[in-house]
Amino acid sequence: MTALKICSVIILAVVLLNVQETNGALSSRTWRKIYKANRNGPYLGLVIPNLFEMNPLLQSPSFTSSNLTLDFDGRRFRFGTIGEKKVILAMTGLGVINAGITTQLLLSLFKIEGVVHCGIAGNANPSLNIGDLTIPQYWSHTGLWSWQRYGQGPKDELPLESDGDYPKKIAYLEFANYTVNATHVASCDNLLNNIWFEAEEVYPIDGTPEERQHTFWVAVDPHYLQKA
Ligand SMILES: *[C@@H]1O[C@H](CO)[C@@H](O)[C@H](O)[C@H]1NC(C)=O
Ligand SMILES: *[C@@H]1O[C@H](CO)[C@@H](O)[C@H](O)[C@H]1NC(C)=O
Ligand SMILES: *[C@@H]1O[C@H](CO)[C@@H](O)[C@H](O)[C@H]1NC(C)=O
Repeated sequence: MTALKICSVIILAVVLLNVQETNGALSSRTWRKIYKANRNGPYLGLVIPNLFEMNPLLQSPSFTSSNLTLDFDGRRFRFGTIGEKKVILAMTGLGVINAGITTQLLLSLFKIEGVVHCGIAGNANPSLNIGDLTIPQYWSHTGLWSWQRYGQGPKDELPLESDGDYPKKIAYLEFANYTVNATHVASCDNLLNNIWFEAEEVYPIDGTPEERQHTFWVAVDPHYLQKA
């Protein structure tokens, strides 16, 4: 009977451990590794969308791996140096949500002094070359839209606009204007109508929790521009 009890206690402990792991909570072992790594910080965080973009950096003679890696929540954080600079490389996966989650993990877990995105930047500007470092003055996510019902236009009020939430201030995109091969038709109207770009809700780290602010253009810290 006693043996059975011990056995069930062990099984319960194993089950609890598994629950903890699937919840993504940090194990004490991981905490210790993070604590140790942070004593060597601060680091420059390099966020890289995929392996195809990370491999050239891993193989570059400029990068020296410290052979420390830390796996957490499906992400791998690789430690090393580029020149004198201590860096953490993180592969984010494609898309804004992946980039956001991985960058937030990087910032929350480690002592980070700055973040650099490293990737092919999708042919943004033909005057840029491989290896160029670009620092924008502002950036925008452009991910929050108010989609206007067909038949309505710039003169009509958007939903919630009267509350001051979704003004028609920034810009809009009219789907019909991107119709192709429509030279033979008089009008290329399109039921998809218009989307209006809206400022996004932000919760600044030095703001009051749950008190939103709105931002469309995010100014880059002038510190980066001075460094360049
Ligand atoms: C990392 O491991 C490689 C291969 O085992 C070794 O050559 C290198 O010296 C190690 N680097 C450090 C910083 O320990
Ligand atoms: C779409 O095209 C029409 C006709 O050229 C133009 O008047 C309108 O401003 C365009 N819409 C946008 C959002 O640029
Ligand atoms: C536009 O028309 C050309 C010539 O008929 C055709 O080759 C092309 O595939 C068309 N493009 C689209 C997006 O339908």
